[in-house]
Amino acid sequence: MATQPEHPPIRTYKPRRGRLTTRQARELTTESQYLLTADEDLDLESLFDGRPVFLEIGFGTGITTAQMAAQEPDFGFLAVDVHTPGVGDLIGRIHDEGLSNIRVIAGDAMQVLEHHLKGSSLAGVRSFFPDPWPKIRHQKRRLVQPDRAVLIADRVQIGGTWDLATDWSPYADHIELTLGACAHWRGGRVPRPHWRPVTKYEALGLEQGRQIADFRYVRTELAHTF
Ligand SMILES: C[S@@+](CC[C@H](N)C(=O)[O-])C[C@H]1O[C@@H](n2cnc3c(N)ncnc32)[C@H](O)[C@@H]1O
Repeated sequence: MATQPEHPPIRTYKPRRGRLTTRQARELTTESQYLLTADEDLDLESLFDGRPVFLEIGFGTGITTAQMAAQEPDFGFLAVDVHTPGVGDLIGRIHDEGLSNIRVIAGDAMQVLEHHLKGSSLAGVRSFFPDPWPKIRHQKRRLVQPDRAVLIADRVQIGGTWDLATDWSPYADHIELTLGACAHWRGGRVPRPHWRPVTKYEALGLEQGRQIADFRYVRTELAHTF
């Protein structure tokens, strides 16, 4: 019998039920070469024909993911989100637009990173507008945490990148403090990258008059800690 871990991992998301449209349900149930399961070891080399791979954590509707994949055809995009309607949307977009360089996982990106990706296997990670978890008692759920920063660093090649953006200024400060204190990453705030399309959440933040902060961190040359 499988044993439960003593302390279940702290999730960066709140499980939510989303109603699926007929198209989203069809995209999720029809066998697709683009949809992977969250519990398989990933051979990125063969999945992406040797292209360097970016992991996108929390792609939402996937509109941005599809745009990035179309404009960067020499890279592979491993797109992971827990919210299944968005996964259905992205698979639909891949089929409609004939994008061959995206693979999608419906699941927890932290589990994928911890259990199914090899060390130094990623060219970079992209996390745009991760949930800000503004309440103090929820802040341990934020994606950017010291232990998660070390795990992500282990899976990214030296010289690889972690690009982030947020519209929540306390989270921007938190990112700067946390990654500034992590010896595996060097970087900080950057002007908005020309290649980053406006995301759905960003558009909502802009409508509400929020400031957008972009960050780029580069994986340093420290020895692996895992
Ligand atoms: C605020 S939304 C931003 C979505 C999109 N990046 C955008 O800017 O429109 C955050 C997304 O991260 C996803 N998410 C949070 N934690 C996650 C995790 N551990 N693994 C995968 N997705 C996650 C949520 O389901 C949600 O879709």
